[in-house]
Amino acid sequence: MSLVSLASRLARPFLLATDPETGHNLAVAALKTLPVPRCGSDDPRLAVSAFGLSFPNPIGLAAGFDKHAEVPDACLRLGFGFVEVGGVTPRPQDGNPKPRVFRLVPDEAVINRYGLNSVGVDVVARRLADRARRGGIVGVNIGPNKDSTDRVADYGLLVEQLAPHVSYLSVNVSSPNTPGLRDLQQAGFLDEVLARSMEARDRVAPGRPILVKIAPDLSLDGLDDMVRVSRKRGIDGMIVSNTTIDRPASLKDQATAKEAGGLSGRPLFDRSTAMLAEAFRRVEGQFPLVGVGGIASAEDAWTKIAAGATLVQLYSAMVFRGFGLVGEIREGLSQRLSRDGRASIGEVVGTANADWRMG
Ligand code: FNR
Repeated sequence: MSLVSLASRLARPFLLATDPETGHNLAVAALKTLPVPRCGSDDPRLAVSAFGLSFPNPIGLAAGFDKHAEVPDACLRLGFGFVEVGGVTPRPQDGNPKPRVFRLVPDEAVINRYGLNSVGVDVVARRLADRARRGGIVGVNIGPNKDSTDRVADYGLLVEQLAPHVSYLSVNVSSPNTPGLRDLQQAGFLDEVLARSMEARDRVAPGRPILVKIAPDLSLDGLDDMVRVSRKRGIDGMIVSNTTIDRPASLKDQATAKEAGGLSGRPLFDRSTAMLAEAFRRVEGQFPLVGVGGIASAEDAWTKIAAGATLVQLYSAMVFRGFGLVGEIREGLSQRLSRDGRASIGEVVGTANADWRMG
């Protein structure tokens, strides 16, 4: 067992005993202060090329953990192939009143309604600029201020300030915790947001990839719209998916399930994977997909990739399984490649796409 796995296993009962937001803050503080050793070298068969970037492995840290870009380099050292910081808003905002994060322990799930708490783009842009020369793939997730009078302009401003300092931008039009934000998924709004974002990008950092992150709660018609606009605008990739406002009847912790907010973790796996597969069929190879939602093991990551993901991301499973999880997933993917006689993880993308369908 690696040092990181051991340390995180020891810390886990302690972190799970704290209230979830304190646990989250402690985890970030630990990464900031403790020396995190670099997690072994990557298996070359796990390397992936997507939107002009070379990823050492396909496993990314999803948005929401390092919201304020405090620890991207420590997260890369844990073994992630890429890290998405944010969501970031233009002006600082507090987010929703506490408590606003809840664990559903028997379900290995989280409900959050942080509401895009952010230190604001100035601070985050400075942090990202300061670390940019260290390399590693660091993207940023962006969203508008809650009280914004012009949300389209917010996205433009965020791209303008952040694009020079990051590997890619992820346009979040799918947070369930900013009132009306999901309306931006409607075709007309998305079209405007993308036009403005790309115009800003072309001015300050031509070629910087722009990805769209969508909700798992879209209808198939809604997904058709998202993909149509995204293809027309020539986006670089799509992240599927954000948290769900749905509450599957199978949840064991029905009391906590009543909390408002976005549900993530294991119960999101099937829904987000079905949405991913539907997106893959509609995108027809025009841009790569990032599969997110409920990944907690190498098998889960493999399943997402086979459903159509070129890259994957995770967050909630780390809450329950600790920082060592990413190393375990890397290891498990390598073993599976050997077992299946595959030369690279890229060969697996979409091979089981037909198994997944939205009900
Ligand atoms: C998130 N997620 C998220 N997504 C986003 O686009 N912007 C954000 O600011 C956040 N913030 C956030 C906070 C917390 C506490 C959680 C648990 C999640 C969503 C996240 O990036 C991911 O899409 C989902 O959580 C699904 O993946 P997992 O957690 O099931 O692996």
